[in-house]
Amino acid sequence: MRSTLDWLETPAVTVDLDILEANLRQKSELAQKAGVKLRPHTKTHKSVEIARMQLQLGASGITVAKLGEAEVMAAAGIDDILIAYPIIGKAKLARLARLMEKAKVIVSTDDEGVAKGLSELGESLGRRIPLYIDVDSGLGRCGHAPGEETAELVERVAKLPGVEVIGLMTHGGHSYGEASEEGSRRVALEEAESLFMTQEWLRKKGLAVREISVGSTPTSKFVAEVPGVTEMRPGAYVYGDVSQLVTGTIGLDGCALRVYATVISRPRPGVAIIDAGSKTLTKDANPHRSGYGLLPAWPDVVVEGLSEEHGHLRVPADWPVPVGSMVEIVPNHCCTVVNLHDRLVGLRGDRYDHNIVVDARGRIS
Ligand SMILES: Cc1ncc(COP(=O)(O)O)c(C=O)c1O
Repeated sequence: MRSTLDWLETPAVTVDLDILEANLRQKSELAQKAGVKLRPHTKTHKSVEIARMQLQLGASGITVAKLGEAEVMAAAGIDDILIAYPIIGKAKLARLARLMEKAKVIVSTDDEGVAKGLSELGESLGRRIPLYIDVDSGLGRCGHAPGEETAELVERVAKLPGVEVIGLMTHGGHSYGEASEEGSRRVALEEAESLFMTQEWLRKKGLAVREISVGSTPTSKFVAEVPGVTEMRPGAYVYGDVSQLVTGTIGLDGCALRVYATVISRPRPGVAIIDAGSKTLTKDANPHRSGYGLLPAWPDVVVEGLSEEHGHLRVPADWPVPVGSMVEIVPNHCCTVVNLHDRLVGLRGDRYDHNIVVDARGRIS
């Protein structure tokens, strides 16, 4: 445990800025070498500062999950935004119209009705709203089956006057069910293949799309192996977490985000209580590893339970860590942890550097 961090008030979420910058550089170099556009998913950090760093390093634009995130980024002057999420309903369409005055916006959907709503908006504004059609490459979330089924959807949507289908997109989130690099590679090939196959069906129908957009952090490593992909959208690579560790995507030296907590009670043998609960670490579980985070200094300690303000550690009977000590935790899922905190403590080594503001924190609509 780094004793020089004794100035830190816990629970605290910290970012090692050297690791963060290395992660950003690495991914942008990977994209450049592969000749693929990098459109990072900013739902991970929700921070204008980090989005600007990504753009300075060559990102072609950003991805967001929600309109609210897009509004925050556009207000900060970021003007090329993919909302990788369907926009539904009058109120949201009105917000989208206002957003499009500030930024170039692409929207995604897998539904003809949603596309009709967008098309009506596009017509009322006298323009065609650029659209990605979401394809299911195996995650089983949004998206129709690749190939004929999606091609037929694209054919119907392409006839709408107020939208323009410019791309196909998929998210290989099922890579998180894999426990090895080989597994992630397989999912990366599935992501690409499902879009290529759909593109081929479109060609047969005389339709063309210019963007083939894939993306998750585990699969992004293999983008050079799938020529034909034009864009990737990794998000979690900036901070890293247990999900990345157990899929073999990164090592501990790539985990920029750490939670620091203080041991506040040793009430029984084999138990320690810390001051980080579900409001700090979230209850996101991991399919490959029990508990709610990893203590790098004590990998056998299990973060067994979380109530709101308390974390329950299962520790060896002779665990030599007294009340008042600080422990370091790599959380299971960096994106959800970040969304719980207004600002993160940026560190250079053990020194405080500056706070990273989570500008779009809580912007979930
Ligand atoms: C549509 C979409 N694209 C890209 C990503 C980024 O994936 P990751 O968090 O693995 O980097 C996500 C994550 O949920 C996503 O939903």
